[in-house]
Amino acid sequence: MKAVKTPIKNLNDLRIELIEKKLMDMSYKIKTDKNYGYIPIKDENNINPNLEIVDIDLVKVELFPKNFTELLEDKLNNKELEDLKTSFDIIGDIVILEIPENLEKHKKDIGKATLNFTKRKSVYMKKSPIQGTTRVRQLEFLKGDENPVTIHKEHGNRLKLDVSKVYFSPRLATERLRVAESVQNNEKILDMFCGIGPFPIIIASRKNVKITAVDINKDAIKYLNENIDLNKLKGNITPINNDITKINFKNKFDRILMNLPGTAYKFLDLAIDLIKNNGIINYYEFSKDYEQGINRIKEAASKKNKNVEIISTRKVKSNSPGMWHVAIDAKISD
Ligand SMILES: C[S@@+](CC[C@H](N)C(=O)[O-])C[C@H]1O[C@@H](n2cnc3c(N)ncnc32)[C@H](O)[C@@H]1O
Repeated sequence: MKAVKTPIKNLNDLRIELIEKKLMDMSYKIKTDKNYGYIPIKDENNINPNLEIVDIDLVKVELFPKNFTELLEDKLNNKELEDLKTSFDIIGDIVILEIPENLEKHKKDIGKATLNFTKRKSVYMKKSPIQGTTRVRQLEFLKGDENPVTIHKEHGNRLKLDVSKVYFSPRLATERLRVAESVQNNEKILDMFCGIGPFPIIIASRKNVKITAVDINKDAIKYLNENIDLNKLKGNITPINNDITKINFKNKFDRILMNLPGTAYKFLDLAIDLIKNNGIINYYEFSKDYEQGINRIKEAASKKNKNVEIISTRKVKSNSPGMWHVAIDAKISD
């Protein structure tokens, strides 16, 4: 198997570059040793000649491991088992599956196998994309206990939620920890779109801060209130159930979190009004690159004669082919 050999410190950037150029072979796993990473590639001829290409044995990716597909061997044919290479999210005791349309007739068997394999309590399948103002998706119950309420554990915190009524993604766990680690004690923080409060809870359990956490979805705020009681917090969280544009804030904030990646840009003018001098906006959007988001932040800031310093940028997760959930941390000053 051909792979690009790269020093560990360059591995993540090169991985993203090769994915974007469609040159990484996603059917194999990246291998690492102490000093180097080995990224599987598809087309040796299109690889930058400055990169080192090596022959190496790599492990094939099996999103559903062999012992899972074995549970379905007598129900699905080989082609159907192949099509089942899809992903699932585990939220607390609940598994949320994406089942390709051609396999929907086997959904109960797939649900049963998932239950046996994951040893969780309930299996639901996705019935719609994440949609609407509250960013919730429709789900269909497949197997186990029909109970959409669960407690998800993340970085030692407990997050209670109803998967059918609120937004929550376990795939943002690393990003939440990263943001929490960058927060300083005594910051006054506004989470404009807090959901059930994963950012506020992870931050306030580590730092002595004051967080105002706003969400338009009353169920999200109901669970945030429960989550405040479920966790031992150093900081203080004030939940508010309202549309962020309808609140009359009297004070400004050291940090504003804007994790509403589809439409956060529409709220940038408000965030610029509410941020203190030298405060930080943690901005998120769906985009192919960072330029669009950086330009949007700069445009909103320049309307108020403010300056922008980009502190860091990250690709948090892939959203669809070529499209990323990107994070931009921007310092805003007078
Ligand atoms: C993508 S979710 C993110 C939730 C949370 N930050 C997280 O990481 O799990 C966005 C949230 O914004 C809320 N929302 C959308 N428009 C809003 C608005 N105008 N004011 C307040 N909250 C809003 C939705 O209800 C949803 O819970």
